[in-house]
This record gives sequence, structure tokens and C-alpha cells, in this order.
Amino acid sequence: MAFPESWMNELMNKNEIVSVISEYTRLESKGGRMWGHCPFHPERNPSFSVSPDKQLFHCFSCKAGGSVIQFIMQAESLSYSEAVRFLAQRAGMNMPDEIDDAKLIAEKALRDRLYDANREAARFYYGVLRSAEGAKARQYLERRGIDPNTAKRFGLGYSPNDWDALYVHMQKLGYTRDELVSAGLCVKGRKDGERTFDFFRGRLMFPVISASGTVLAFGGRIIEGDESERKYMNTGTTPVYDKKHNVYAINMMKGKKLDELIIAEGYMDVISLHQNGIDNAVASLGTALTSQQVRLMSRFAKRAVYAYDGDAAGQKAMLRGVDILTRGGVEPRVIMLPGGDDPDEYIRKYGRGAFLSLRDSALTAVQFKIEHLAASVNMDTPDGRQTFAENACSLLASLSPVERARYIKTVSEKSGIAVSVIEQQCGLSKPTETGTKAGESIPGAYKRPTGFDKRVKIEIMLLACMLSDRGVAASIEQLNGFSYDLFTEPALKRFSQAIKTAYERNSKVDMRSLLAGFEGEVADAAADAAAQSEDILNPIDTAADCISAILRGEREDEIRALSDRMTAETDPQKRAELLRMQMELIKKNRSDTD
Ligand code: UTP
Ligand code: MN
Repeated sequence: MAFPESWMNELMNKNEIVSVISEYTRLESKGGRMWGHCPFHPERNPSFSVSPDKQLFHCFSCKAGGSVIQFIMQAESLSYSEAVRFLAQRAGMNMPDEIDDAKLIAEKALRDRLYDANREAARFYYGVLRSAEGAKARQYLERRGIDPNTAKRFGLGYSPNDWDALYVHMQKLGYTRDELVSAGLCVKGRKDGERTFDFFRGRLMFPVISASGTVLAFGGRIIEGDESERKYMNTGTTPVYDKKHNVYAINMMKGKKLDELIIAEGYMDVISLHQNGIDNAVASLGTALTSQQVRLMSRFAKRAVYAYDGDAAGQKAMLRGVDILTRGGVEPRVIMLPGGDDPDEYIRKYGRGAFLSLRDSALTAVQFKIEHLAASVNMDTPDGRQTFAENACSLLASLSPVERARYIKTVSEKSGIAVSVIEQQCGLSKPTETGTKAGESIPGAYKRPTGFDKRVKIEIMLLACMLSDRGVAASIEQLNGFSYDLFTEPALKRFSQAIKTAYERNSKVDMRSLLAGFEGEVADAAADAAAQSEDILNPIDTAADCISAILRGEREDEIRALSDRMTAETDPQKRAELLRMQMELIKKNRSDTD
């Protein structure tokens, strides 16, 4: 059963996790966190930790973890609701009425009603489009080149130009006013709250259907001639619909094994693309792409080709969107539509073949960002080209060395600046003795190569993991690939040695006395690591990630060095050997990432 939220809050407040767990194991405080022996298994070193801030516990050894309720479930071998009852008793609270179950059931029942109402409404609109009343809308579709078969596949309809035609129809089917208003199909009169109007009136209707085939919402477009009104109206947020979680036409992707999806902006783009045989098109419906939408799309394809309107707003949305796609594990590509056309206009003007070749030459995220930087300045002037080159180099500096190498030529060609200069600006090659010193003399966008910063950050994180306690540090020392030589930053190397020595004497590092022995950079690095150490929930796993990131970075450096040697090598046999070595490293890095 479920319990009312406010009652649960009170229960959690009255069962402060540290006081509850202290009845089972002795906890000692260290750096904002409490440590003790795990009550769930025998252990010599304490690896059981409680965070008073987060009100969570976690055992680094047996991986048990959760809130005070999970703790009691495990410690007392109780079910969830038994544990809640146990804690209520402990806190002297009465059990709430079990009303919540009923409430949940009621909510579920309402959602089911709204799904049904949406399906009935879609049916109604669909019928109207094909009736005498829908003649104007059918002509409109014809003008836009949408044939009846496509209209049928998308379930298009027409909402009569009446105040309440849908309302009257739905009431006959037994739907209540409240249900119809909740579904976003009807609205209460603004002046006269007793009156009820249809939300969509005189519009071409686009049902928005979930991946599993349920009608969730609608979009409605005015038919040309009514220019005073908003072009599209959409169902707002309802108990069954949130536009942030949905993608238009995702229902059409069901059962298809797709290499990629095409993401357009609007309803008509998707429909027009499908009609022209591009049946992997979906739309984000005018909103900025969300991570939930990306997760949904990732179920159907691992790559997505953006085909937004060629205007400034479309560009801006794609700039943000490519990163959201990447983060969601979907590889982005970008189609640049010429002349401000949207995909519908473009494919109608130039045809399917032209669109497909645009798709074939779609840009990667980095290429797209470089194009965008070039488009934001006047590339016909030396100043413009310099600004472009500087901005592009900051972008390149944030990439992995392999990726960076791939785009240096593009930036060089576009800006007319020599490859070697671009490389230097990105911090790729070491500056020559007579040249400028990286990070100092080059003005403008130059930033310290992030490869270096990143490495130091990882080293600090690794130290932070080791600061947990001696047991954790010992486990980290045993991890594959670990050695004290991983610390390349001199301050961090000294600090790591100091930790090692401290653990030889005590099971815990006393940061105060340790820091007292250092000053300047080492003290800063130590304080940095100590601060991070409290936030690391699982230091051994985190350390393993740090180590593999460091090793991967080192291999990347080697891969780059091998490229340089290959360029200089004239003997084909030796070149082949270098290539083989390089491939091996690349393979290793790849398998490491997988
Ligand atoms: P567009 O203005 O680019 O329209 O809006 P469109 O898709 O090209 O439509 P047509 O070709 O004129 O019929 C793109 C999307 O933004 C949302 C809609 O989802 C639309 O498809 N939008 C646009 C709205 O929700 N409301 C509006 O008033 C306009
Ligand atoms: Mn359009």
C-alpha cells in the first residue's frame, strides 16, 4: 500500500537515520559522514557509511543502501509496509487511514477514462474530416499535397467550427464535463463558468500518439484564411500528457529496425516527409529537445538526424539539441536546409532525392558547431576569420585528441590559417623555442589545453577516493592499473605519498595534521581532494573509473604521437608497424569504453 506524502514526511523526520542506525551499529563521524561496521555482514574495517545530509546509508562492501526504510527492511527482515509500521511505532505515530490506495486507484481510473476520451475524440475528428463538414479541410490538405492515404495513416481529422460539437458528442457517449476538461478537449467558459466549449474549433487535427499506440493529445492547425488566430493549438499538460516526454509520430516507428531517426520541428514536416517515402521522421513539436524525448527516441535508433527549419531559431535549437542527443547516447547529425526552407517546403520543391542527399551529407555535431561559428562572423574579413579561428580552437580544445585531429583541417581551410598554427592554438603541438609559449602570449580565445586540466582533475578525484579510509585505499591500491606513478602533477604526487605514509600509522587520515605539513599548491590540492571525498558515495568504483580514464588518456597521447611518427616515417614497413601499434591502442581504448 502507499502512504500519504505528508504522513511519510513526518515519519522520515521522526526517524532520523543516524539515530535509527545507531541502535544497530556504532557510528563515528568523519567529514560530514558517519562510518561504522556494516550490520549486514561481518567486516573488520568499517565500510558502512551514513550521510546525515542525504538521510541515506550505503555499504561500500556489500552494496546495501537506501533510506531508513530500506535499512529497517533489511535489519528487521520486514516488507516495505511492515518497515513503515515499525518506524511509525518507534516514533509514536498512528498509522494513517489507508485512503491512499483508493486515491491511487481513482487516479489510474481517471487516466484510463482520459485515454478513452482522447481515442473517441480522435475518431470524431477523423469522421468529420471525411464528412461534408470537412470539405474545406480536405481541400487544404490537397493544396498542401497530402493525399488521403497519408492523412489516414496519421489519423488526421477536422474539428467542426462550432462552439461545442465535440462536447455534445462526447456527453452522449457518457463522458463528464470534468473528464473532458481534464483531457484538454473542452474548456470552461471564461465569462460564464457554467458554459463549456470545445478547445479545438475549425482546425485540422493531428492526434499525438504514444509509442504504444495510445492517443495522448492533439495539435490543431488553422485552415488558411483565418490568419488572425494562432497557427497551431496544442493540448496542454494533462494527467496523461506532457509534451516534454513525447515525440510526434513515434508510434509510426514501432516494429521498424532503424539506423536513424529524422527529427523535424513540426507536424507538417513529419507528414510531408513520410508521404515522400522518408518514413523515419518524427517531430519534437516546437519545444527544445528534452532528455526524456531522447530516451524515448533511443529505443528506436542510435542516431538522429536533425532537420529543423533553416532559420535562426532552428539553428539555435539544434545547437543545444545535439548535446542533449549526445548525452542521451544518440549520435547526432545535422541537416542544413538551404534558403530558410523547412523540410516540408524543401522536399516539395526539390523532391525526395534532394532531401536524401542532404541527409547523406549531414554534418556531425562538431562540423555543425564549426559552421555555426563561421556563420556568426563575416568570413570575408581578416578580423572575422581570426575571431572564427579563435572560437573554433576553443571548441576543438574541448575535444578528445582523435576527434580534434579530425577537424583541424576544416578550421584551417575555412580560416586560411595554417594547420600548424591552429594546432598550436588548440594546444596540440608543443610551441617551438622561438614561438609563443602556449597559454601566455596568444591572445583571445586560447585556453589551457583541457587535456591537462582534465588529467589533474582526475588525479584529484582519485586522491579523494583514497581519503575515505585505509581499507578503501588498500582496495584502490589493488585495482588494475593503479600505481603511485599515475599522479603526474608534482603537488599531487607528494600528497599521495603523504597519504600512503599516514595510512601506515593510522587507519584514517587526519587531514588537519596532514595539511599542516604542506603549503601552497600541495595544500590546495589536498584541500580540494578532501572536499570532494565527502561526496563520493562509492570510492572504489569511482577510483576504478579514474584509473581507466587516466590510462585511456595516456593511450590517446600515444596514438597521437604515433600519428606524428607515421607522418615522418618513409620506410613503408616501419609505417605499417607503427599503424599496427596504433590500431592496437585504438582497439584497447574502444573496448575500455564499451
Ligand atoms: P512552424 O511555424 O515551423 O510551423 O512551427 P510548420 O510546422 O512549418 O507548420 P506549417 O507548415 O505552417 O503548417 C513548427 C512547430 O511548432 C509548433 C507546432 O508543433 C509546429 O508544427 N507550433 C508552431 C505551435 O505549437 N504553435 C504555433 O503557433 C506555431
Ligand atoms: Mn511548414
